[in-house]
Amino acid sequence: MALKKITVTASGIYDVLIGGGLLRFCGGYVKNVTNAEKLAVITDDTVDKLYGDIVVSALESEGFSVCKFVFPHGEQSKSTDTLVKIWNFLCENNISRSDCLVALGGGVVGDITGFASATYLRGIDFIQLPTTLLAQVDSSVGGKTAVDLEGGKNLVGAFKQPKLVLCDTDTLDTLSDEFFIDGMGEVIKYGMIKSEALFSELEQYTVESLRKSKNALDDIIAQCVTIKRDVVEADEFDTGERMLLNFGHTLGHSIEQYYNYTGITHGKAVSVGMKMITSVAEKNGIAEPGTYARLKNCLDYYGLDIEVEPSMAQLAGACLNDKKRFGESINIIVCCDIGASMIKKMPVEAFFAMLSEASDTH
Ligand code: NAD
Ligand code: GLY
Repeated sequence: MALKKITVTASGIYDVLIGGGLLRFCGGYVKNVTNAEKLAVITDDTVDKLYGDIVVSALESEGFSVCKFVFPHGEQSKSTDTLVKIWNFLCENNISRSDCLVALGGGVVGDITGFASATYLRGIDFIQLPTTLLAQVDSSVGGKTAVDLEGGKNLVGAFKQPKLVLCDTDTLDTLSDEFFIDGMGEVIKYGMIKSEALFSELEQYTVESLRKSKNALDDIIAQCVTIKRDVVEADEFDTGERMLLNFGHTLGHSIEQYYNYTGITHGKAVSVGMKMITSVAEKNGIAEPGTYARLKNCLDYYGLDIEVEPSMAQLAGACLNDKKRFGESINIIVCCDIGASMIKKMPVEAFFAMLSEASDTH
């Protein structure tokens, strides 16, 4: 199938290419966007075993000198410890300002490599080779980079746009159902916030049937990236419209925190968050009747309609740390209908009251 190309015009202009087989030919694509002599590939151990050799030889075949840094997979590696190791590795390998980093992996690899590229030598170029569904539809595009602190996720970061994003959708064949489903949480989010057409398409599949329909999946990934591109172009630095991408995330982050970031995956937590806020919105006349039921059904098709222990009232307190809180008010993202979202600024107290009331009647 033909490759899909989506161009992002933000503080940097770059292409996102989507299709099968891209990793094997990544050298040529990388050559087109950098004059670097050396490339530092950053990846995790799982992805390295699957795709490290393919990528290194594809890059070397175009004449690049390539070094590779591999860290243990998982969110716990998105830390300042790993970051310091990456900086030292770049220094030991004499990576200069005209060289380039290559992030090969999921959102953890992409976020930390992006932050290393934003900070090493006050900034060098980087390229994203995302290998999870979540990274292909979300984290590799838009330039948010970060590491976690003990106090919370993504607390230190920078905006740094990549020079190129290559979404090789063949890599999704090796992804576990668990992480595929996790990415589907974000895919459904795009339908909810911006596209009834995408949402309707998602209602026609299950995890199994969508994984088998490669062309449809490539097309769905391209629809998500197009939505993300449009939002990022309108608000690169996250002061307005970009907050829509956080639909379900305020409560989702509180759920992740409740389970100490280990008992529930991000996509599942966000899915519960989308369901909770939509039920509240519908009860308060903000969302059209039936919006909640349709969302819940769609989540169910993908194994994402799950229950969590904490009530909305219990989760409300943790929302105080949300990045969308400004003093005494908080920006809540609500969908008034499938495909139609808005930012609702509310006094924190009114938000608490709304969640507590919804908990009582749940
Ligand atoms: P991840 O990077 O931990 O990858 C999930 C797991 O899948 C890992 O164990 C990894 O080794 C493995 N894996 C990756 N590709 C694989 C493949 N093709 N086949 C088999 N296994 C593979 O997690 P993720 O879900 O990709 O990303 C989550 C991270 O993304 C979080 O840190 C989150 O904060 C961040 N994120 C960032 C943004 C952003 O805009 N920057 C947006 C959303 C999420
Ligand atoms: N994933 C949210 C954002 O990029 O803004």
